[in-house]
Amino acid sequence: MTTELKNDTIIRALLREPVDRTPVWIMRQAGRYLPEYLKTRAEAGSFMNLCQTPELACEVTLQPLRRYQLDAAIVFSDILTIPDVMGMGLYFEEGQGPKFAKPITSSADIHKLPRPDVAESLAYVMDAVSMVRRELDGTVPLIGFSGSPWTLFTYMIEGGSSKTFAKSKKLIYQEPALAHMLLEKLADTVTDYLNMQIESGAQIVQIFDTWGGVLSDQAFRDFSLRYLDRIVSGLKRENEGRRVPVILFAKACNTQLEALAGTGCDGLGVDWTISLREARERVGQQVALQGNMDPAILLAEPEIIHREVGNTLSSFGHGEGHIFNLGHGITPDVKPEHLSTLIDSVRELSPAYHS
Ligand code: CP3
Repeated sequence: MTTELKNDTIIRALLREPVDRTPVWIMRQAGRYLPEYLKTRAEAGSFMNLCQTPELACEVTLQPLRRYQLDAAIVFSDILTIPDVMGMGLYFEEGQGPKFAKPITSSADIHKLPRPDVAESLAYVMDAVSMVRRELDGTVPLIGFSGSPWTLFTYMIEGGSSKTFAKSKKLIYQEPALAHMLLEKLADTVTDYLNMQIESGAQIVQIFDTWGGVLSDQAFRDFSLRYLDRIVSGLKRENEGRRVPVILFAKACNTQLEALAGTGCDGLGVDWTISLREARERVGQQVALQGNMDPAILLAEPEIIHREVGNTLSSFGHGEGHIFNLGHGITPDVKPEHLSTLIDSVRELSPAYHS
């Protein structure tokens, strides 16, 4: 396997080193907006089979890179593989979001959850990582990922997606020691999981804290940030003679940018509810910023997309440390040609910000 990288623009941008244009990748770049993804998922029979078959996971990881000039690949999997291998039995029913065959119904169930041996139970993810690295052959870096302990906790405690997060919040207030026990187990598991992805060939890692934004300021610090801190400190930060940058994407957590930057991560993902200008003023030279176009802009006509790419680039402004992305995942209703417009526009308009 080659350790050379022909295009390391995204790694340099994450380390705030000079680049000649702004690198771009898209959260959920392999997904349902692509007809070839739907075809491979149909062949796999189910979303879980797709994740668990390294050849198919590798195929869908590469699909968006065949269509678009992306600066990174992200290994195809899901954040909920961790609760799955803790014994909860993850499954998806069309249009219904994630479900568990063995949901948590009591404190005793929480006590019984094991710290899984991810090298063994998630070997299929490591196999997909090595296979993608081989196929990429050094063209662009590969991103590995995990959910944050708090975000995994909400799916496990709620038994799936939620609007109110009532059970999770009740648990942290009513039984904080029990909540911390589970979060600690998750933090150690996530650390193992990301380190294994790095050892298998992931050259960047991203942690998704999709639901950090539902917590109060203090609860975020106690039940999410604390564990993000612990994970960042426990990660292998260099591999193959190169820095392995860590990106934290905590959605709807704009009030926490300084605290998140303080974990020692290299980059922060930001959603579209804050301007990159303000985010940059707040974090200064501490971290790079990733984002933050509203995914809904991709539903508008190409001229609008081109204009909004320009606005996003100009909001960050001149200089280093920007990775172009959406502020959350691309949605299934986007026309694939509209993403071409976004990527071509970043390539066309961004060099002016790096001269
Ligand atoms: O970005 C990529 O291309 C890599 C793949 C990826 C998936 N999920 C594939 C997926 C990544 C990085 C994720 C992360 C993920 N999964 C998050 C964090 C990011 C975010 O979007 O906030 C979360 C919260 C999940 C949990 C999850 N997975 C939910 C709630 C759902 C169902 C709802 C939905 O969006 O459809 C999934 C399923 C899922 N994971 C799909 C994909 C492409 C769609 C499933 C399908 O093909 O039917």
